[in-house]
This record gives sequence, C-alpha cells and structure tokens, in this order.
Amino acid sequence: MNIILLGPPGAGKGTQAKRLVEKRGMVQLSTGDMLRAARKSGTELGNEVARIMDAGELVTDEIVIGLIEEQLTRNPDAGYIFDGFPRTLAQADALNASLEKLGQKLDAVIEIKVNDEALVDRISGRYTCADCGTMYHDKTTPTQVEGKCDNCGSANLVRRPDDNPESLKTRLMAYYKQTSPLLGYYYATTGLESINGLADIETVAASIDTVLDL
Ligand code: AP5
Ligand code: ZN
Repeated sequence: MNIILLGPPGAGKGTQAKRLVEKRGMVQLSTGDMLRAARKSGTELGNEVARIMDAGELVTDEIVIGLIEEQLTRNPDAGYIFDGFPRTLAQADALNASLEKLGQKLDAVIEIKVNDEALVDRISGRYTCADCGTMYHDKTTPTQVEGKCDNCGSANLVRRPDDNPESLKTRLMAYYKQTSPLLGYYYATTGLESINGLADIETVAASIDTVLDL
C-alpha cells in the first residue's frame, strides 16, 4: 500500500507517519528528512539546500524528485508513506509516472486539516532528540526530565532552524501557493480523504486507520 499524507507545516504528517511505520510496517519517505541529511554533507549542493530550507522556501523539484525516484527504484514494493512529498503539481506528476513505471499505484491520499493558529502553536513549541528522533512539544508533550530524552536519555535536544516565526510564514505561504492545488488534483484523480488534524494524536491516528481500512 502506498499513501500520501498531505498537510501544511506542523499538521502532524511526521508524527502520524512514524506511527504507521510502527503499526503497519510501512516505510516513511520524508523529503524533509532526506534533505536534512543532505545538508549535513557540507557540499555546495548541501549548503544551497540548507539556505533554502532555513528560509522556508521549497527546494527545486529536480532535487526532491531525484531523491524519491532513487528510493522507489531501489525498493518498489516496500509500501510507502509519502510525508512532505509531493509539494507541487510537477512533483505529483513525477510521482504518478514513477509509480506507474514500477507497476505501483497510490492507494490513498489523506489531507490532515489544521488551522493556522494551531500550526504556529505546534511548530513554535516543537523540539526533537537529535540522537533517536523522538519529538517533543514544550506545552503538550515535554520530556519527563527537563533536558533529557525520555526514550534514549540523550541531552542532545534540538530545535529546527526553520521553526522560527519568519520562516514559518514563508513555509505557510509556500503551502497555500504551491502545495494546496494538489488537494484538487488528487480529489479529481486518486480521490482525497480529509481528516480533522486538530484532534489529539491518537484520535487523528484512528481517523487515518479508518481511511486505510476501508
Ligand atoms: P518538512 O520536513 O517536510 O517540514 P513541513 O512540511 O514543514 O512539516 P513539519 O515537519 O514541520 O510538520 P509535520 O506536519 O510533519 O508535523 P509534526 O508531526 O512534526 O520540510 C522542511 C523543508 O524542506 C521545507 O520547508 C522545504 O524547504 C524542504 N522540502 C521538504 N520536502 C520538499 C519537497 N517535496 N519539495 C520541495 N522542498 C521540500 O508535528 C508538529 C508538532 O506538533 C510536533 O511538536 C508534534 O508533537 C505536534 N503534534 C503533532 N500532531 C499533534 C496533534 N494531533 N495534537 C497536538 N500536537 C501535535
Ligand atoms: Zn532520544
């Protein structure tokens, strides 16, 4: 099964994708995570990617399509959760073409709907364990012991450089201008399921399960 989680920054795509990996053994393909890994390379391309991400703009279609195609070709039937991809109509077309070439298809496109106020709240409170990837939030899900990851005990808790008010504004604009047209695109092609992302994490997860088990 291949699915897309679609939604603005902070909607909960990553949170729900991780849960689906644990529960259903699917593979999360987050272009954001792939690009964060690429920027660590220190190459000229990595530095350019870092500049674009920190400003909150979109990286070029060519780069992200290349990253996804490489993964799909290597392992076509893993069962993917596309998280943060596609983000433009060109990326959506490229994904369709790649899946078709590999004899695969999209089984569901799920929009996680959250209003802007909640997004700002979620993103401004988010921090992550750099060692194991566990995600926390200042208000809703802080670490039990201050400054220490509950899961692995690491003190290496970090905030993303693009989680600041200025970059967030740009990220939201990019979503509304470049990504939201995909809602109509998928509604008219694969079909689109919209769920309420304002509920708590378990309730959102249950809504996703309902869609996938239909
Ligand atoms: P990316 O890493 O994809 O970031 P994003 O889309 O901005 O999404 P986020 O990771 O911020 O949010 P999320 O929806 O995953 O929410 P999360 O689960 O973390 O992209 C980063 C950048 O990379 C882009 O700006 C762009 O530059 C580049 N890029 C990536 N893909 C690209 C592409 N395809 N094309 C071009 N450029 C690309 O949750 C957020 C917070 O809320 C957490 O603290 C969490 O604990 C909390 N939370 C989650 N669910 C709930 C809930 N139900 N109730 C309460 N709190 C919740
Ligand atoms: Zn940890």
